[in-house]
Amino acid sequence: MEFITYEQEGFVGIVTINRPKALNALNSQVLEELQETFQAIDLEATRAVILTGAGEKSFVAGADIGEMSTLTKKEGEAFGKKGNDVFRMIETFPIPVIAAINGFALGGGCEISMSCDIRICSENAVFGQPEVGLGITPGFGGTQRLARLVGPGMAKQMIYGARNIKADEAYRIGLVNAVYSQEELMMEAKKLAAGIAKNAPIAVRACKKAINDGLEAKMEDAIVIEEKLFGSCFETEDQKYGMAFFLDKNKDKVKEPFQNK
Ligand code: CAA
Repeated sequence: MEFITYEQEGFVGIVTINRPKALNALNSQVLEELQETFQAIDLEATRAVILTGAGEKSFVAGADIGEMSTLTKKEGEAFGKKGNDVFRMIETFPIPVIAAINGFALGGGCEISMSCDIRICSENAVFGQPEVGLGITPGFGGTQRLARLVGPGMAKQMIYGARNIKADEAYRIGLVNAVYSQEELMMEAKKLAAGIAKNAPIAVRACKKAINDGLEAKMEDAIVIEEKLFGSCFETEDQKYGMAFFLDKNKDKVKEPFQNK
């Protein structure tokens, strides 16, 4: 891999987009390497993933403008599909993905962060969908996910005006869950990931699926999705252990890690 690094720290996988010369912009090769990296993650051994960018300036400065500049209509649509396929894979990845946004998150950078489950950022982060200033629409899900996350009015204002916002505004409108100093960001992302990894993995995955699938369904159908996933947790070793641990009145017992079984 030229542009992606992967590290495993206990139950947590850390995926870093590493193309600093172009502020981690997403060209076709970066997208392909991202896909391969996620596909290779060991889902038995990993309970949460952190996605970040290399360096202290940029998370991802968007799709690669040089690569896009000469595309035909057909190639443009295919490039959009390429990004959308990778981002949808991240969005529906069985385990939670946390975006640790360490700087510019513009265009495709904002879009990839929105395909993650949770976004936290550093104080120097800048978010935006500047595409209309380049003569295109957002193409990796921005028109859809931004409107769903912050509401259509705010999304339209940001997208039509190609208006970038800073970390504090991103926090205020609910685009990110928290803002930290650059030094604290990865430590806080790891804490967040560890807090997820200590819980029963089958249940956490079922929660992700219930929330994601339910948001795309009518409430009548959404609650049935939940019922089925709720039911699927019973008879697992982790459900038996988690409930037995609660019911055991011995105060000196120590909770063991869940087994993912
Ligand atoms: N694509 C290709 N190269 C990029 C890039 C991008 N999106 N963003 C930055 N770079 C490159 C620059 O061309 C420059 O390369 P050289 O050193 O070879 O000239 C290098 O990264 C450093 O960038 P700057 O010199 O511009 O750095 P800066 O600090 O002055 O500005 C910035 C930083 C404000 C992020 C500026 O680089 C910028 O505006 N980048 C483009 C942001 C953008 O418009 N993103 C949206 C792309 S469209 C998209 O993403 C479509 C979609 O939805 C699929």
